[in-house]
Parts: sequence; C-alpha cells; structure tokens
Amino acid sequence: MKIIIINGPNLNLLGKREPDVYGNASFEDYFKDFQEKYPEIELDYYQSNIEGELIDKLHEVGFDYDGIILNAAAYTHTSIGIADAVKAIETLVIEVHISNVYSREEFRHTSYIAPNAKGIIVGLGLKGYELALQTFL
Ligand code: DQA
Repeated sequence: MKIIIINGPNLNLLGKREPDVYGNASFEDYFKDFQEKYPEIELDYYQSNIEGELIDKLHEVGFDYDGIILNAAAYTHTSIGIADAVKAIETLVIEVHISNVYSREEFRHTSYIAPNAKGIIVGLGLKGYELALQTFL
C-alpha cells in the first residue's frame, strides 16, 4: 500500500507559523512518528509552495499510488489548476485542513478541490492526516 501526503504553501512552517491556529508541532516530527506507527505502509511526504509543482506531483503519483492525502493550503481556495489535476488522476484524494476553515474568514469556506475529493477532514489538527490514512486501509 502506497500513500502520499502532499502539503501546499506555508505548511513547511508548521510549528512556527501561527501556532494558535496550526499548533506547535513541525510536520517532519509528526511524519516521523506517523511512519513508525504504520510500518506496513509505504508512506511518502511532499511539500511545495509552488502551484505547478503540486500539480506535477499529483500527475506523478496519481496513477500509481493507492491514496493521496492533500492539504493544498491556500491553493484550496484559489487553484482551478490543482482542482483539475485532482479530477484528472485516478488515485482517490482526501482533502485535509488542520484548522476549521469554516470558522475562519469567508474566503476559506470555498474549496475548488472538494467536489472531486473522496472526502474532507477539517479542523481536527494534525490528527486529520491520520484519520485520512485510516480510510485508505
Ligand atoms: C489550511 C487552511 C487554509 O485556509 C490555509 O490557507 C492554510 C492551511 C489548514 O490546514 O488549515 O495554509 O489548509
């Protein structure tokens, strides 16, 4: 079983960025624990701040992997390119947001990805990535 977590812009700053919203843990630390907890799964991680790189990664893994866990961060609310890539690929995508986007600014209430996601997990912190993973098992 091959699963990839893809994180979008500014999520490389987790642990440093707005800790009241996103928590104090870096994604790298969380991911290390995560890999140890699920040794039977080939679990990959990719982060980029660049829209086209996220699209390229979706194309690369989207006909081969068993699941994609995608937090496209701010691009969720703006990117038709990423939305089209999610629609174009075969691998199912679960959309994750660490914060509850619906309790935040209105521009965060729109997701271009959601209509083509298998499901959405919002507002449960980093735990949301694990819940997404469990749905693929
Ligand atoms: C986010 C929510 C987005 O609105 C925001 O732009 C992010 C992170 C989240 O995980 O809560 O960068 O996707």
